[in-house]
Amino acid sequence: MADQKPLSTEEKRELLKKMLREKAEKAAAAAQTQSSGSSTTKDFGQFADFSKFPEVQTLDAQFQTLGMLHVENPYFRVNERIVNNRTQIGGRDLISFSSYNYLGLSGDPRVSKAAQDAVEAYGTSVSASRIATGEKPLHQQLEQALAHLIGTEDAITLVSGHATNVTVIGHMMRQGKDLIVYDELSHNCIIEGAVLSGARRIAFPHEDWEALDKILEDNRADYERVLIAIEGVYSMDGDIADVPKFIEIKKKHQALLLVDEAHSMGVIGANGLGVREHFHIDPNDVDLWMGTFSKSFASCGGYIAGRHALIRFLKYNTPGFVYSVGISPANAAAALATTHIMMEEPWRAHACQANSKLFLEGAKARGLDTGPSNGTAVVPIITGNSAHALLLADALFKEGINVQPILYPAVPDEAARLRFFITSDHTEEEIRFTLDKTAEHLSRIRTEHKDLTFPKAMLG
Ligand SMILES: Cc1ncc(COP(=O)(O)O)c(C=O)c1O
Repeated sequence: MADQKPLSTEEKRELLKKMLREKAEKAAAAAQTQSSGSSTTKDFGQFADFSKFPEVQTLDAQFQTLGMLHVENPYFRVNERIVNNRTQIGGRDLISFSSYNYLGLSGDPRVSKAAQDAVEAYGTSVSASRIATGEKPLHQQLEQALAHLIGTEDAITLVSGHATNVTVIGHMMRQGKDLIVYDELSHNCIIEGAVLSGARRIAFPHEDWEALDKILEDNRADYERVLIAIEGVYSMDGDIADVPKFIEIKKKHQALLLVDEAHSMGVIGANGLGVREHFHIDPNDVDLWMGTFSKSFASCGGYIAGRHALIRFLKYNTPGFVYSVGISPANAAAALATTHIMMEEPWRAHACQANSKLFLEGAKARGLDTGPSNGTAVVPIITGNSAHALLLADALFKEGINVQPILYPAVPDEAARLRFFITSDHTEEEIRFTLDKTAEHLSRIRTEHKDLTFPKAMLG
């Protein structure tokens, strides 16, 4: 061995290539042997062709319905300017109720300037996970500002609101040991996180804390960690959760409580500072204050605020944080700027609250069904029929009002609706005009299209 000539770099490379080639040939031969038996006896074509997937065919049927009803596709409309109380689509100026720029801060020159300065200073990406070399001063400043805003010991920020719930719930809760109990109307990201975790899942009827109490009476003893997940303001119905009741129950059963503040932060409370302010809650009574930057904060990303021990654990362990890039400089700077503005300019929340009240009362006065919405910036107008919702949104679009229809299967057909997001920028005139047109067209559609429904196949 001693006198064997060492391989040159070129020879090493050739040897490695040869080994890899042999390995690939062996794997291909094994796959061929394995598949030859079964694929000759059964046809798997329907599983290898996307157009044959049943869910793809359901979508095709939905497009056909648009054609049948002679309405334009209301999805993926291109908004050609900053969207606040107004937007521009296809060159037309419209009133917008489709974006959750609740405080009008997306487009605020101070926020845009903060984002521009951050790009100047740090570039367009932090180009690494924060645990590696992605950490910037802005990240810590933002997390401290959030902790201050919410009154917690610490906070962590992630690149997406949706991913925040998925990765945090998915990682913190464990298969075979833990239980997640969540409101049946919880946002998709809470449910996705629960599924990912593998923990036992039980949904409780919407806002029914008595049912939750009973579920925990019956099941608490079988599990170690128990997580109760609720939203401050529900994203489809705009009602406010009775958080103090949920705190009582979580204490009684020694559970953890997550409150998703996506639609409550910046909007409810005496100064718009969310659930904690609205109910005068001790911040330590909620274990995970979750929120997103895409709404009142006019940015992109998500956060969890809570105790040091939780936040440190998440920073060193959560896959969606550790194995993902840090929030971008522009997004961090925008969220930091809006966190300060939210604290310094409560008049924005007051304007949003006043507009929401005007809209809700006006809708009720015109006999429109607003569901359980109560004093928040989310107000549904329930048509109770997906085809009617689609026709109504189309009629309003022609009148110069952009509002999104929410149809089956996103909600049951009888709960189909238009969802209005109210902002601090809307004017009284825009609100009154929109409500008049909504009432007028809904009444006409109900008369003219009394028996119209979505195709049966699509209603499941
Ligand atoms: C209640 C709730 N949680 C989380 C999210 C996800 O936030 P993002 O869109 O910022 O990812 C949303 C989005 O609308 C939401 O409504």
